Amino acid sequence: MSEGPLRVSMTIDPDAVIAPVNRRLFGSFVEHMGRGVYGGLYEPDHPHADEDGYRTDVLALVRELGVSIVRYPGGNFVSGYRWEDGVGPVEGRSARFDRAWRSIEPNVFGLDEFARWSAKAGTDIMLAVNLGTRGAQQAAELVEYANVTGGIRLSDLRRRHGREQPYGVRTWCLGNEMDGPWQIGHKSAEEYGRLAFKTANAMRAVDTTLELVACGSSGRSMPGFGTWDETVLENCYEVVDLISAHSYYDPEAYDLPSFVASSAAMDEQIRQVVAIADRVGRRKGMAKRLGISFDEWNVWYMGRHESQESTPDWRRAPRLCEDDYTSTDAVVVGSLLITLLRHGDRVAIACQAQLVNTIAPIHAEPDKPARRQAIFHSFALTSRHAVGDVIHSAVLGPTVHTRVHGEVPVLYGVVTRDNATGTFTSFSVNRSTTDPIELVVDLSSLPEVRVLEHVLLDGGQSTTGEPHPAPWEHADGEVGLLLPPVSWSMLRLATT
Ligand code: AHR
Repeated sequence: MSEGPLRVSMTIDPDAVIAPVNRRLFGSFVEHMGRGVYGGLYEPDHPHADEDGYRTDVLALVRELGVSIVRYPGGNFVSGYRWEDGVGPVEGRSARFDRAWRSIEPNVFGLDEFARWSAKAGTDIMLAVNLGTRGAQQAAELVEYANVTGGIRLSDLRRRHGREQPYGVRTWCLGNEMDGPWQIGHKSAEEYGRLAFKTANAMRAVDTTLELVACGSSGRSMPGFGTWDETVLENCYEVVDLISAHSYYDPEAYDLPSFVASSAAMDEQIRQVVAIADRVGRRKGMAKRLGISFDEWNVWYMGRHESQESTPDWRRAPRLCEDDYTSTDAVVVGSLLITLLRHGDRVAIACQAQLVNTIAPIHAEPDKPARRQAIFHSFALTSRHAVGDVIHSAVLGPTVHTRVHGEVPVLYGVVTRDNATGTFTSFSVNRSTTDPIELVVDLSSLPEVRVLEHVLLDGGQSTTGEPHPAPWEHADGEVGLLLPPVSWSMLRLATT
């Protein structure tokens, strides 16, 4: 513990734009897993259910969370899923075993129900196709069903099912985590890369406008991380637009300082995947550069659920991975969003995994209104206020030592500027688990700076119980604020 607060200065250069803020970084993920769909999005018997059986309390929270795009229907689930089981008149649909989560899938919620829910939630759709037990043909047929206006067999079937207009789904994942031995239909990188190539061509033959995501490695801890991505892209670089990355951060798998600095691992992962993808692109002599789809990320208490998932238990919508989050988790979620924003020039899509009940910011019980988890707040505030451009900021300050990531800057942040209002928003995390930071933000190149709002989410590791002091403004364009240990903060500044 040092004597007084750690001193950190941040200079914002209002003219140095890194990238426009991409709304698709505020994506989420809904999988047929546990009570994510049944008892989450959809619960016809609930007092808050609407005429379609959707929970309106959940819908209201999804809108408040500010989710832009939702990946569906999996996840591991998709690798054994037959999309045809979830379309057409509900009375004609049958239940099936879902081998991924050892659950019974009733199939009363499928593509049309998800599309209707998305329209109510105001979110875009990102679909994953099954490349575990199925292949190019079935994927192309799903594109035909979903995106062709009419006059072709499956598009006409969709119309007979009551959906006249196509769903117009643009973004598609070519399978899920195909490097994982746990994945149904797990493949070698060569096999998967060739299948992704064939599938992409078959899907594009039906709809040329598609944006396609190849499966990158499912995590940095995978033994094949890196070589998987490289081999896959050797086989399909030409036909895909993005490569996926996944990562979950388990608070109980690390010491506290390392967990709080989890964003250092995400940052490194993004740099590595970008470097690998660009190397393949250069080798192939292609001008095109791929984006990253970080389509599964979150804090997940994975260790707590290991035994639960391996129990043979074929039930409908069992309670799986219903994590209860702390304010420290909210700080980490906020810092992971900072990383995604900082890489907005290459990360094109990001999906917090998942949305409701299962590893989720929203929790819904059958007999109560849905509620916000602690991690809801850092996501919702960032989504609402990180608008406009990401602006370059220079930070000077000490580092903290972590066992897993080594030395990392104690203050980690990003700044955005809303070009419509001229408001600057600084999102900062104090990664120290022991010391407060006195942060001085310098915007002296602008004539007047005024604090509009300061929100603090405090990890509560070593607070005194005293209220936190409000930010203080200096006449010379500087604003000071005190950030407690393990805290996430959002400072909104008006400028003229
Ligand atoms: O999000 C839960 C699971 O985590 C997903 O099904 C899978 O893709 C990942 O391993």
